[in-house]
Amino acid sequence: MVTAFDAYDLGGTKLSNRIAMSPMTRNRAHGPGLSPTELNAEYYAQRAGAGLIITEGTQPSVSGQGYINTPGLHSEEQIAGWRKVTDAVHANGGVIFAQLMHTGRIGHPDTLPGDLHPVAPSAVAPGGQIVTDAGQQDMVAPKELTEAEITQIIADFAEAGRNAIAAGFDGVEIHGANGYLVHQFLSSNANLRTDGWGKDIQGKTRFAYEVAAALVEAIGANRVAIRISPGNQYNDIAEENIEELYTALLARLAPLNLAYLHVAESAGRELTTKLRAQWPGTFVLNPGTYPNPTGPDALALIEDGTTDLVAYGALFLANPDLPARLAAGGPFNTPDFSKAYGGDHTGYTDYPTLGA
Ligand code: PHB
Repeated sequence: MVTAFDAYDLGGTKLSNRIAMSPMTRNRAHGPGLSPTELNAEYYAQRAGAGLIITEGTQPSVSGQGYINTPGLHSEEQIAGWRKVTDAVHANGGVIFAQLMHTGRIGHPDTLPGDLHPVAPSAVAPGGQIVTDAGQQDMVAPKELTEAEITQIIADFAEAGRNAIAAGFDGVEIHGANGYLVHQFLSSNANLRTDGWGKDIQGKTRFAYEVAAALVEAIGANRVAIRISPGNQYNDIAEENIEELYTALLARLAPLNLAYLHVAESAGRELTTKLRAQWPGTFVLNPGTYPNPTGPDALALIEDGTTDLVAYGALFLANPDLPARLAAGGPFNTPDFSKAYGGDHTGYTDYPTLGA
């Protein structure tokens, strides 16, 4: 029987186990020009026992930043900062993919430099507020992207992929989940376009496909992955005909031979099972356990074939040596969510390992 603790061949990259660290926003890119620091390198290196680390959402361009103090992958300073992270993770035997996150309409003009304004498929403001340097503020109507701007963002993703490889990453994961730009294109309420980037399922799945295809051309299929969250309404997203939409998306993506498909389960196990059956390659599952963190019992999903890898978020935040703790049956540190987003080393690199 296959177990979570068996090695895995991810398109030629050897993973020491099948336990992944989910992408988690930590808002601590305090180096010059939103670049990662030694502290960020220490945080990821502590977690290198994961078979696969997926970084926090990283903006592929200046305009893709929605949250304060998130890192980017569009400048030399950022590449140099990430190099510290990838070197530290590799020195500890880990594998690390950078998550490329363009937040689209989830953002605020105050967080963007100069006159930049959040952008999206359509000029529809998301409900809700967002943290800015001046505190919580209502989100605003984004600027509707022109076709030329869409083409530019796709090129930005490809360039960020090249930068990720220059920074030493093993690959990149496109953030197609949780209400950010790629998901906005897939949606029925953030994408009201009547051109070839909206209108019907072919149009709505086009942006995700074109970003993936551009990245495959830039850095190779075995270094490109995508995360989706079918049915997730987070960040004020609504989708129609969810199964049809995602079945069409996977049919388009499958021939690209991506490194993996990562599903943040939001609409129940039945849909997950269908997507798993449809996807010809590696499947990574972040099981839907909200509001509880994904627990040790999720490892059974590898044994019964529901998924190839299981991704842990909150439990990895609080337990740097999570695979060892899972192997030992616990105990587990409890995440302190008051220190999840921003701050210093506390609640970041000071969670103890077993026996420490
Ligand atoms: C967040 O910062 O709240 C956040 C970022 C990315 C996600 C989900 C939540 O996918």
